[in-house]
Amino acid sequence: MMLAPLRVGIAGLGTVGGSVLRRLHAQRTALGQRTGRDIVVTAVSARDRAKPRGMDVGALHWFDDPVVLATSDQIDLFVELMGGSEGPAKVAVEAALQAGKPVVTANKALLAHHGMALAELAEAKHAALAFEASVAGGIPIVKTLREGLAGNQVERVQGILNGTCNYILTRMEAEGLSFGDCLVEAQRLGYAEADPTFDVDGFDTAHKLAILTTLAFGVALDIEALHIEGIRSITPADLAAADELGYRIKLLGVAQRVGARVDGRVHPTMVPKSTALAQVGGVTNAVTIFADAVRELTLIGPGAGGEATASAVVADIADIARGIRSAPLGLPVTALGAAATLPVSEHEGGFYIRLSVRDTPGAVAAIAARMAERSISFESIVQRHPPRHGPDPSDVVPVVLVTYRTVESALRDALDAVVADGYIAELPQVIRIERE
Ligand SMILES: NC(=O)c1ccc[n+]([C@@H]2O[C@H](COP(=O)([O-])OP(=O)(O)OC[C@H]3O[C@@H](n4cnc5c(N)ncnc54)[C@H](OP(=O)(O)O)[C@@H]3O)[C@@H](O)[C@H]2O)c1
Repeated sequence: MMLAPLRVGIAGLGTVGGSVLRRLHAQRTALGQRTGRDIVVTAVSARDRAKPRGMDVGALHWFDDPVVLATSDQIDLFVELMGGSEGPAKVAVEAALQAGKPVVTANKALLAHHGMALAELAEAKHAALAFEASVAGGIPIVKTLREGLAGNQVERVQGILNGTCNYILTRMEAEGLSFGDCLVEAQRLGYAEADPTFDVDGFDTAHKLAILTTLAFGVALDIEALHIEGIRSITPADLAAADELGYRIKLLGVAQRVGARVDGRVHPTMVPKSTALAQVGGVTNAVTIFADAVRELTLIGPGAGGEATASAVVADIADIARGIRSAPLGLPVTALGAAATLPVSEHEGGFYIRLSVRDTPGAVAAIAARMAERSISFESIVQRHPPRHGPDPSDVVPVVLVTYRTVESALRDALDAVVADGYIAELPQVIRIERE
């Protein structure tokens, strides 16, 4: 028996919504064959009805209010592609779920802030809530963690989840340019927003990491539990030193199991050049999963853009057409453990430290002594010649240290003592190292 067509309502016809509409149309026959059900868009909503959309939406029911669309009896599935963690996106998704309608969204901000409540509502109403596109655009990472790796115990997930930051860091490394210059270039090319805070200060990565952490470790979704740093402090000197030491610097979201706790962090990270993540340049995204059965698995691909993101949205729509409904967060919300967080002070790993040391006798020895007091030892110490151009040579010597495995609080204490001793001219630069 042929199933009735799946009637889809889309709220948001921008970069992603427009691509989803076109893709559903172009792939209609194939999708019908793949899912056993015709998938047809019957209704849409956006802010401005008069705006040219590059496609004919005249034959579709138009809703000025996405919340009314969400509960309309003209649709079987509500697709939210407006964005924003509050306001119409939240109200419309809640309304659809409340009415028992399945929802597909690409909205990481909504998920990161309200994912628990929305998943609970979806479960109570036996409605699907699918969000593949919310993390790493076209990379099917949600499905990979939730379905593909269901037979594994995941130990660590780490990824390049923000194309803007990866583009800026790649350009800084290739051209020796400053963060500010590369940001302006990224803005000119449309890779960075006019207000870049959300991307370059790590919040976008944190939204995505919060979702991945829940899927990987079965803990409650809690963005507040993450330690978040962005890339503004990275200098060409850091990238050059990393290069010489055999590393690249990437803004990573990292979540790892440490005993019964989860260590979740977003920060610039030195990764060995031999790793898969180090090879990923430009706006591309990538995620590496370490798990007991597969050991190591990396997915690399487009993290944004209308077409790539639409690929993930359409895959979710196809699942719903097939009648697939997973617990949105991998486990029923009541089975998710409380997120027991490892404070970043207890994080243990290698560190890169760049110091501007005053060129006075005994300074480097005194700094090394401060570290030794806390049992911090070094894999390498590189002392460079001070820049000696111009009539007034600098009295500051750049010194780069790489530690062996160290607890972060011990390192921070040692550096506080170094600052108090007065041997350095600027605050130390510290970058965490992930050696795999
Ligand atoms: N762009 C990407 O590469 C990408 C990648 C992954 C995930 N996402 C996520 O996908 C979502 C959409 O992003 P986008 O880049 O497609 O955004 P966008 O281009 O700005 O499009 C937003 C759409 O929502 C509509 N809209 C906004 N407020 C509305 C309201 N109150 N009522 C009805 N419609 C409203 C807009 O209408 P008008 O057209 O009339 O202004 C527009 O069509 C966001 O959650 C974003 O985080 C985007």
